[in-house]
Amino acid sequence: MCGIVGYIGSKNVVPILVQGLRRLEYRGYDSAGIAVAKKDQIVRVRTVGKVDNLANKVKLNSEELKDTHVGIAHTRWATHGSVTEANTHPHQALNGKLILVHNGIVENYRELKEFLGPDIQYASETDSEVLAHLIGKFYTGNLKQAVMQALQKVRGTYGIVVMHQDNAEELVAARMGSPLVVGFGDSEYYLASDATPMLSYTKKVMYLNDGEVVDIKKDSLEVFNLKDEQLEKNVEEVSWDDEQAEKQGFDHFMLKEIHDQPNVFQDAIRGRFNLNEGNAHLGGLNMTPTEMSSINHVVLLACGTASYAAQVGKGMFERLAGIPTSVEIASEFRYKDPIVDSKTLVFAISQSGETADTLAALREAKRKGAFVRGIVNVVGSTIARETDGGTYIHAGPELSVASTKAYTNMMAVLFLYALQFGRSRNLPLSAGQSLLHELRRIPEKMNYILNNKDIIKTLAEKFKNYQNCYFLGRGLNYPVALEGSLKLKEITYIHSEAYPGGEMKHGPIALLSPDFPVIAIMTQNQLYDKMRSNVEEIIARGAPIFLVATVGDDKARQLSEDIIFVPKTKRLLEPFINTVALQLFSYYVAIGLDRDVDRPRNLAKSVTVE
Ligand code: AGP
Repeated sequence: MCGIVGYIGSKNVVPILVQGLRRLEYRGYDSAGIAVAKKDQIVRVRTVGKVDNLANKVKLNSEELKDTHVGIAHTRWATHGSVTEANTHPHQALNGKLILVHNGIVENYRELKEFLGPDIQYASETDSEVLAHLIGKFYTGNLKQAVMQALQKVRGTYGIVVMHQDNAEELVAARMGSPLVVGFGDSEYYLASDATPMLSYTKKVMYLNDGEVVDIKKDSLEVFNLKDEQLEKNVEEVSWDDEQAEKQGFDHFMLKEIHDQPNVFQDAIRGRFNLNEGNAHLGGLNMTPTEMSSINHVVLLACGTASYAAQVGKGMFERLAGIPTSVEIASEFRYKDPIVDSKTLVFAISQSGETADTLAALREAKRKGAFVRGIVNVVGSTIARETDGGTYIHAGPELSVASTKAYTNMMAVLFLYALQFGRSRNLPLSAGQSLLHELRRIPEKMNYILNNKDIIKTLAEKFKNYQNCYFLGRGLNYPVALEGSLKLKEITYIHSEAYPGGEMKHGPIALLSPDFPVIAIMTQNQLYDKMRSNVEEIIARGAPIFLVATVGDDKARQLSEDIIFVPKTKRLLEPFINTVALQLFSYYVAIGLDRDVDRPRNLAKSVTVE
């Protein structure tokens, strides 16, 4: 996720900006820059790579940068445009007189470019620079007004800070979907994406809400809504210490990232579907309708958690588009002389975009003439660059080794691709619309679980001393069980396996005992009765049973007292909801066992070796 820092006051601004960016490094980024206001100009310094690179370049420009007291800074997590200095923020307009930093996604940046006309010379590939030029178009001397007018035309998310050379002692900031915090010092103001960069200067903060604009000058601060009505806001005291602030107050990155899911899920789907058409539009597919209709086989290449997202994606593709779909473990695919050809569409699915097995497998698929596309989180990563198109999942940096939000966002993008192919074939408009209506409700249903996590903590405490267990699920809940089982293994070191519910009686049931519990996903769907029978078989063997059941399913209590209730949703979308329950369950078991949750033993975040 991009990071923003701003300052206006009497201190030297450069060290505040650079140190502030260091405090935001945990957010993940690939380039950084600052801009400071001098009497007659704005000086900008940008680099790709780490903040250390920026600090070195700032030193080389110290003469130009000295005695400056107003400025903005940014660490970029690329979403549009590759990792280059030209794409690095701050971006400028009006021949360098107007400077902007932006966190978020301007969905309609192409339309805005048309609105701005052909005369604008763009220096970057980014949507953010378009926003800078849009504000510049409306600038007639009042910076806050220009920002207000420009934001009326913007669709998407933003956290922005803007400055103009004419008003060297003024910062205007605005928030829609990407957080911004104002810090109150002694005759000075701080701005940042979160409180972390300002904690060493002040703990008095004001959180901007969506749709708010703040106009900060040396001796005044005013907040407005987008109708230009002035607002009264509370100033709060931050209780976090620095280290906690990096995790937004959560104890671990994994817990923070589990809680990120409702928001980043929206980032994954935003601007990528059309409710009226009951369809999805993923530009990165780069295939003509004729090429799309020629596809008779979809192959999903991945490893680990990504492969379980792929298994859900298989169900989606086959159910919605009726296209035979295979999930291939990348490390196997590359050595099996795979049967793929020009009628095969291969997706390489990867959070890091650097997994060696997945990379090698996609190269093999390309060699065999398949269409190869990426479903990746890290912009500009090797897999993203070596596929002939694809879609970024916009999960933001995932820093915990155990993948959570990337998993749900991979499934979100797979769903949209399945819908797009389905609607290009036989899926009716009404079916597409009905699914999209429910898709938009997924974040609120994820929040239901996040807001009721105390019961999950209690069950985790009860479970944590078992040494072995099974996860069971049927239909799309089988890959959910696989992922739940992997999460538990990864961060608690408890031995766990996952099976389709119907498989228990074919052998695994031999291991059940009072010391061998089962976590069964028994939500209300077409397979409920079958799953219930499996649970009864398990109980008959005296094994403890922990259930994931649908809110309102009172019959579940006849089978177990240990139940995580989840909201009902469409069968095809259940993985988005049920997974959150299992992520929290594994997290709290790991906490109960005092494990190193974010850095589990033996594991790496990105497996770049074979
Ligand atoms: C997930 O919790 C694991 N850390 C691991 O299975 C991971 O999903 C796998 O290594 C694939 O990584 P990728 O998505 O970056 O390709």
